[in-house]
Amino acid sequence: METKVYQTDQLQEAAQKLKEGELIAFPTETVYGLGANALLPEAVKQVFAVKGRPSDNPLIVTVANFEMVKDYVDNFHPLTEKIVETYWPGPLTLIFTIKKASLPPVVTGGLSTAAFRMPANKKTRDLIALAKVPLVGPSANTSGKPSPTTSEHVYHDLKGKIAGIVDDGAAQIGLESTVLDLSDATKDPVILRPGAITQEELSKTLGIPVLLDKHLVSESEAPKAPGMKYKHYAPDTKVLLVKDGDWQKAKEWVKDNHLRAGVLAGPKVSEEMRYDTACVFMYSKDTATAAAKGLFAGLRALDDAALDLDVILAEVYPENGIGAAYMNRLKKSANQQYFTAED
Ligand code: TXA
Ligand code: MG
Repeated sequence: METKVYQTDQLQEAAQKLKEGELIAFPTETVYGLGANALLPEAVKQVFAVKGRPSDNPLIVTVANFEMVKDYVDNFHPLTEKIVETYWPGPLTLIFTIKKASLPPVVTGGLSTAAFRMPANKKTRDLIALAKVPLVGPSANTSGKPSPTTSEHVYHDLKGKIAGIVDDGAAQIGLESTVLDLSDATKDPVILRPGAITQEELSKTLGIPVLLDKHLVSESEAPKAPGMKYKHYAPDTKVLLVKDGDWQKAKEWVKDNHLRAGVLAGPKVSEEMRYDTACVFMYSKDTATAAAKGLFAGLRALDDAALDLDVILAEVYPENGIGAAYMNRLKKSANQQYFTAED
């Protein structure tokens, strides 16, 4: 199959293909999504097949407006209006209990709940409106690999397997949406996956402490978002987290062991490591926001087999604000491993 790259002024043809059951990747402010008509089980099955995604990991239903959600949900959490007014369109996915038999079970993994997201990207909302159906939209990468933040990343993973990609440049945020569980109208909302809409922000807006799901706080708890239990964001090259004061020691370790090391860090650390490592992927600034935006692209760039690296050393950020989402993804890609002086 030839994978066609569509520009954002060619949405009509892409929408028609989606409607008919073909797979088209679309841009969002977080990462690129892999679109398919959510109402056609055969099309949705293809999404699992091309990604190599376990079938018990349910998909997000991507909508053009809140009205579309009402076709599938009639029992909304009391905070829904406030949340939707404040954050939609935007990087916040909401879990609702759905009407019986309203969505194909292949979308929800057979659960009585489903995830809904209205992306900020206007062209993608136009695409959904033209297709006149909701689209499933998991990240458009091979399952287990870093999520795609450019159309080139999507092409690299899925070329020949999907009908097309709508290209709209690099994703602005770079990490997947925050997932908020609103499925039980009698309980306070809980964050299942951290993202750019932060715990601090949600708590402030809602005037209640919005808690993180237990698995995000304690490693012994099983995640409630089924997808969070799988291996994720993992490049083939080993990744080590390097704490603030440890870069000098890491430099000596690389030198003493004759390692080909890559560095993933902001300008300050990159400058310090530049002449002692094989290559550097530099975030645009020394901020957690810039690190979040660059993380997946950096992991992909440094994992290029041609570089033949032994190890990727990555910068850590404090786990608050968007730093919490950045560290959530980075720790998974590093399998929780930190560089220690004994390494
Ligand atoms: O930013 C994003 O959310 C991107 C863009 C493309 O929209 N999409 C994305 O989709 O990250 P995906 O499929 O890679 O992640 C969806 C997450 C998974 O962790 C999944 O387990 C969880 O949402 N999820 C889906 N349905 C759920 C449900 N009914 N209950 C709990 N978690 C659910
Ligand atoms: Mg994903």
